[in-house]
Amino acid sequence: IASEENKHYRPHFHFTPEKNWMNDPNGMFYYDGYYHLFFQHYPDAAVWGPMHWGHAVSRDLLHWEELPIALYPGEEGYIFSGSAVVDEENTSGFGTGNHPPVVAMYTIHDPEKEKNGQTDVETQGIAYSTDKGMTWTKYDGNPVVGNPGIRDFRDPKIVRDTIHDQWVMVLAAQDRAKFYRSGNLKNWEFLSDFGMDTGAHGGVWECPDFFPMTIEGTGETKWVLIQSLNPGGPNGGSATQYFVGDFNGTSFTLDPGFKTALDKRKAFWIDYGKDNYAGVTWSGIPDSDGRKLFIGWMSNWEYAQQVPTTTWRSAMTVPRELRLIRDGGLFLLASSPVRELESFRNKITEEQDVSLSAPFVYKSENGGGLNSTEILLSLEKTGNSIVEFRLYNTEGDTLSFGLNSVKKEFFTDRTRAGQTDFSEKFAEKASTAPRFTSSGTLDVRIVLDKTSIEVFYDSGTAAMTEIFFLKSPFDHFDIRSTDPETTLKNITIHQLKF
Ligand code: FRU
Repeated sequence: IASEENKHYRPHFHFTPEKNWMNDPNGMFYYDGYYHLFFQHYPDAAVWGPMHWGHAVSRDLLHWEELPIALYPGEEGYIFSGSAVVDEENTSGFGTGNHPPVVAMYTIHDPEKEKNGQTDVETQGIAYSTDKGMTWTKYDGNPVVGNPGIRDFRDPKIVRDTIHDQWVMVLAAQDRAKFYRSGNLKNWEFLSDFGMDTGAHGGVWECPDFFPMTIEGTGETKWVLIQSLNPGGPNGGSATQYFVGDFNGTSFTLDPGFKTALDKRKAFWIDYGKDNYAGVTWSGIPDSDGRKLFIGWMSNWEYAQQVPTTTWRSAMTVPRELRLIRDGGLFLLASSPVRELESFRNKITEEQDVSLSAPFVYKSENGGGLNSTEILLSLEKTGNSIVEFRLYNTEGDTLSFGLNSVKKEFFTDRTRAGQTDFSEKFAEKASTAPRFTSSGTLDVRIVLDKTSIEVFYDSGTAAMTEIFFLKSPFDHFDIRSTDPETTLKNITIHQLKF
């Protein structure tokens, strides 16, 4: 089974665990040329179980090497999601050599207390590394944050707040985010709550992230709160919303303009597809780079444990760069694949000014099919048209996606894209995303890797990520528009080779 599964389903350049179960990305940081990625991992089966932190490293965010498990569950409980920071000034005192220690903070989830129906199931612990993140020691003073009587109390994300010269930690507590501060990463003081009365609340809040960002093209800084939610996503199940506002060192308040837009729309999502959950950003990216790098878990709790792979389960999204954009009265968090992806491009076709009065059709001739592919295109005069993109193969698998200008939305329809019968929720209906801009030109970037598609519309202000399980790779791509005036301004198709 393993080799068949790998042939059909294991992605080329998206991170997957060598064996068995994976969910959320955890504790990502950059240190000395290496991007570290940890992940919720159950090494003994391809379903969720007692949680460990798996570990992988990469130099380019696309080739990953899996390392030994970093944190094992113990008597105290399972190791749930969390974060890690390079403690440059050794504020924690864990540093021993002449390089800074790395400190991870995670949720200790006690299954015994859970069984007994106690509410204090989840507390927060820390662990540290004095060898640049390769091996870890749990702190003997754990837990460092006790449970205040809230059953769901987890997923601490630490950020260095250089503006107020403090460590800030945010965690998810049922229907809200809770902020804390510390000077040494060991003693934490509660600051404030956010979110009980705003945003989407169709499920439990999980896996927050919080950081300052400069609004693109200005010198102005805003704070962004990322907040995963399960269930209650825009297209069902798990999804990740965001908030834009200001932080005075103690509490987070929504930007008034963002609040007005939010009141109207109820929620803004980092991704409107069904398969981008629990995503957070890397810490320790040098100022000289300055990017906000994000990765999410490319699945959904609605069916994550049923998808048709049995020896390993689930992949991460392609690493993405986040940008904060102001568009009229809207603040939008845009995402795009990291630029590192560009160096693996091999152009296979390029065309300009193609009229869509007849469909545009591309057929892959290279035998490999369209299974490790990037497509960049832009359309003009989309007016009131419905523009449909299709990826398909001779076995009858078809993935349909595109723009419906009448409804001002994008859609992804995987109902006919291969195997779907493992879960009722998987291909229930097409997913949709709002189109925020009203520009006549539409840029689209598509990243395809065997079992996943990630589509970035309008500079990534509407992203849609979905997985699927095909009988054989797609080998055709076509585009049609209901309006004969629509033109394909340009299209480039790259094969991605690693
Ligand atoms: C999110 C989540 C987290 C938790 C982890 C457990 O997918 O439920 O809230 O820490 O998974 O594996």
